[in-house]
Amino acid sequence: MKVILAEHAGACYGVQRALDMAVEASAEGEGASTLGPLIHNPQVVADLAERGVRAVSGPEDVERGSVIIRSHGVTPAVRRMVEERGLPLIDATCPHVARAQKAAAALARRCGRVVVVGEEGHPEVEGLVAHAREAGGEVAVVAGPADLPDGLEAPVGIVVQTTQTREALDAVVAALVARGIEPEVKNTICFATRQRQESAAALADAVDAIVVIGGRNSSNTTRLADICAAACPRTHHIEAPEEIEPAWFVDCGSVGVTAGASTPEDQIAAVVARLAML
Ligand code: F3S
Repeated sequence: MKVILAEHAGACYGVQRALDMAVEASAEGEGASTLGPLIHNPQVVADLAERGVRAVSGPEDVERGSVIIRSHGVTPAVRRMVEERGLPLIDATCPHVARAQKAAAALARRCGRVVVVGEEGHPEVEGLVAHAREAGGEVAVVAGPADLPDGLEAPVGIVVQTTQTREALDAVVAALVARGIEPEVKNTICFATRQRQESAAALADAVDAIVVIGGRNSSNTTRLADICAAACPRTHHIEAPEEIEPAWFVDCGSVGVTAGASTPEDQIAAVVARLAML
């Protein structure tokens, strides 16, 4: 059975960078805390906890050690809270997210009104909203044109959650243009997600079965599994190599492997090795 790894799979640049920073922090004396689980990957979170990097809900839960900001970023208020407590800060905000935060603030200053295209309640979106509000902007979060508030007037700035699609952004822009508003758009989409989805779809089309690795609580991994299942009925979403059952691959000439943006390389290698043994 041939095992083929998707061209783009696994931890994106920002997640890998945050993981490396957390592992580095774990080597320091007093340990470290992450504001929420570092990534949606239970194995990685458990491994980090063993190394002394625990997940907490907020800065108020930290007595000592460093505080790690996740790749999603935080609101300016949370950052201030960490600083006021005098705790060392390790900022693992993905540079693409940091760029989106700056864009949100700049648009708020220039336009006064900011539309954030993204998922309401997502930590990255909360950070973008807070950055725009701190800069004096009125903010609306929209998943699509239907969420645009009535009575919106020019000038309007648009910033985008990094994991959104170009189609979602274009639809919101088109709806504003139809209302006679020419928005100032900062396209802050990161292509890591799209690349993973496109290579998973292409691979799922070409193999007899496909294994998708990543936390069951990871929305980007679940989305990858859905995309694969649409092209390949023998799609299996797993978190660890031990879950693999040889019966899944009866009469398979080829099996594909892909992984969500929160799956580190060693977990992918372990799955590939297990499949190669079958
Ligand atoms: Fe950063 Fe893009 Fe990953 S924004 S965290 S590299 S999906």
